[in-house]
Amino acid sequence: MSGPVALVTGAARGLGLEIARRLQRDGYTIVLADVEEELVMASATELAATGGALGLRIDVRDDESVAGVTATIEREYGRLDVLVNNAGVIHRSNTQELSTENWLREIDVNLGGVMRCSRAAYPLLIGSDNPSIVNLASVGSTFGLTLRAGYTASKTGVVGLTRELAAEWGPVGIRANSVAPGYMDAPMLHSGIANKVLDEELLLSRTPLGRFGLAEDVAAAVSFLVSRDAKFITGIMLPVDGGITIDGTFHRR
Ligand SMILES: NC(=O)c1ccc[n+]([C@@H]2O[C@H](COP(=O)([O-])OP(=O)(O)OC[C@H]3O[C@@H](n4cnc5c(N)ncnc54)[C@H](O)[C@@H]3O)[C@@H](O)[C@H]2O)c1
Repeated sequence: MSGPVALVTGAARGLGLEIARRLQRDGYTIVLADVEEELVMASATELAATGGALGLRIDVRDDESVAGVTATIEREYGRLDVLVNNAGVIHRSNTQELSTENWLREIDVNLGGVMRCSRAAYPLLIGSDNPSIVNLASVGSTFGLTLRAGYTASKTGVVGLTRELAAEWGPVGIRANSVAPGYMDAPMLHSGIANKVLDEELLLSRTPLGRFGLAEDVAAAVSFLVSRDAKFITGIMLPVDGGITIDGTFHRR
């Protein structure tokens, strides 16, 4: 008997890995899935030391790969209670120079992946007594970020798709929500600061809580949304951003 099972995509590293660690502490057996096979196997080995964990390769752009993962979960555990659609990619360029290839890749991973994994998970989720989906949105779901057209469009789409899933699958008991991390103390932010797309001082001055986010802040929000405490919450986007998307201060603090 595995107890409740959670599938986290893009769990080889970063936010996905931290979410996996948190849900394991909450009592879930974790299936970590990522396109980076070696890295996800190493992360699964790390988690296996503290509880139930299985590493699998997935490419969320590929129907067969996604179906293979849900088939393995059914065979290994016979259940799935939580799906965290975390796999994501970002590409920075002027929109006038954005290649169709890069545009489609971001849409396909960030938005198409959420649809494919949710669709494949449905037959297992309906068997759970507390099934839910959490999707990773972004400040790009609220702001026009500039130089990130595919990212902003896909992450805005994630919020719409989350509402769609919540409305359509609520009647069978499946909740769907998203979390929208702000600027996180993580490689995505560091690379943006390094290549001067982001201004560290300006970002912090526009963030009421005065710091960048930590992976554990996002993991805690996911933990709440999948818990029974959130059993009447569905279709929302929960910002985890220190207040940057509600701040109306347009002078230096
Ligand atoms: N870090 C941030 O500042 C931030 C802010 C807002 C939202 N987010 C979102 O949170 C999620 C995780 O971000 P992160 O910073 O940990 O990123 P990350 O790049 O460290 O991790 C993303 C993971 O997704 C995997 N992945 C990429 N394409 C895949 C595919 N086709 N199939 C399966 N896996 C794939 C990667 O291999 C990687 O392990 C993303 O959806 C991202 O857009 C991050």
